[in-house]
Amino acid sequence: MKNIAVIGVGYVGLVTGTCFADLGNRVTCVDVDEERIANLKRGIMPIYEPGLEEIVRRNVAAGRLSFTTSYAEALNNPEAPAELVFIAVNTPAGVDGEAELRYVRAAAEMIAQTMDHPLIIVNKSTVPVGTGDWVADIVKNKQPRPIPFSVVSNPEFLREGSAISDFMNPDRVVLGSLDEEAAQKVAQLYLPLRGPIMITDLRTAEMIKYASNAFLATKISFINEIANICEALGADVKEVAAGMGYDKRIGRAFLDAGLGYGGSCFPKDVKALAHMANVQGKHPQLLEAVMQINADARRSIVAKVRALVGNNSTHLNRLEGKTIGVLGLAFKANTDDIRESQPIDIIRMIQADGGMVKAYDPVAMPNAAKVLQNVKLCADAYEVAEGSDALILATEWNEFKNLDLVRIKRIMKQPVIVDGRNLYDPPVMRELGFIYRGVGRGY
Ligand code: UDX
Repeated sequence: MKNIAVIGVGYVGLVTGTCFADLGNRVTCVDVDEERIANLKRGIMPIYEPGLEEIVRRNVAAGRLSFTTSYAEALNNPEAPAELVFIAVNTPAGVDGEAELRYVRAAAEMIAQTMDHPLIIVNKSTVPVGTGDWVADIVKNKQPRPIPFSVVSNPEFLREGSAISDFMNPDRVVLGSLDEEAAQKVAQLYLPLRGPIMITDLRTAEMIKYASNAFLATKISFINEIANICEALGADVKEVAAGMGYDKRIGRAFLDAGLGYGGSCFPKDVKALAHMANVQGKHPQLLEAVMQINADARRSIVAKVRALVGNNSTHLNRLEGKTIGVLGLAFKANTDDIRESQPIDIIRMIQADGGMVKAYDPVAMPNAAKVLQNVKLCADAYEVAEGSDALILATEWNEFKNLDLVRIKRIMKQPVIVDGRNLYDPPVMRELGFIYRGVGRGY
């Protein structure tokens, strides 16, 4: 059992803190957002993540997990002084794609000013290569009197929607530090999970996170490029991905063609890695192509809608007078997150073309309502379909997999479906009488 402080109760911080508590440690989570902390104390989660609320409640009840806005309470509790402090604050993208480090800086400064005993500072936020050294400098310079500390990089690989099982069953744990003893102490926390633990230097650990996310984003853009070619040549990208995936060197994961990647990580991290390369005078041409293909995947969905139901016009009124229904608003299923969401972008493109939009998402509508204008948010998929000229399947929620398609066809104005997630079977859709387009399904 160790005493741990976690700074930041966003996705990464809350899941990390809760899972460490569930493994028997005593965890205090600290955040500057008073409302978030007050809500957590009342059992209200700041994010939608399957299974999280129940584990939070269980560990709070057992006295292993608590929430505070006070760094002193989290770090210097006389009965349980923290041995390790995890920084898990967000690192949004700055104007040039560089990661914005003001929250990391603020956390490092607060740790330096508050700590009254030696600490291991573990960085979980995705930060540019070299940030670990920078954090160490900040802490050293801001301490009122010198107290020993070490910095360890421990990048997080969890996915939204399956964050808890990803944390509990890691493919690997990466730790980076020059201080072997500190890295070993962090490693001990992860031993019960039985995953491989790799200890390396700080900068290499930081790079492993970017390289991993950029590689997965590349896989997605690769299959979207193949999908594009499949459409022209009459092949089916779903079968192509299946056939490729049997090769162990390739693997089937992350070969789903569709709307391209969205979310809080891939778009930001690929951009940040390209920015780091550019600053060093390197030319990250593969990463540039990955980003361009990703942007095209969203545009190509709107192009399909225009081609099927649009007005014969080259102006901005190509969808004027048309109602387009959008099923799904989250950037993927099982999350309410709409950061860098493909459906939101697609809706804006339809609106720019003069189209009216109706939409539905099982959990992301409250978040979407904050950023969208003039969209009719509906109670279910059928209300969206009613009177629509075309439907776009934008997020692969389970509840969209078994819709009553006969009913949908009956209530739509025109039976047109553009399936951005390849959820449906093209021959079945044609048999039902739909004009159907998937992504990369040229046969
Ligand atoms: C990702 C990484 O997987 C995780 O390791 C990292 O810590 C954070 O970023 P996340 O953003 O939660 O996780 O979602 P992920 O499941 O990886 O999907 C990212 C995006 O790619 C989604 O928009 C998804 O719809 C899209 N995607 C994924 C595809 O378009 N095709 C695929 O085959 C897989």
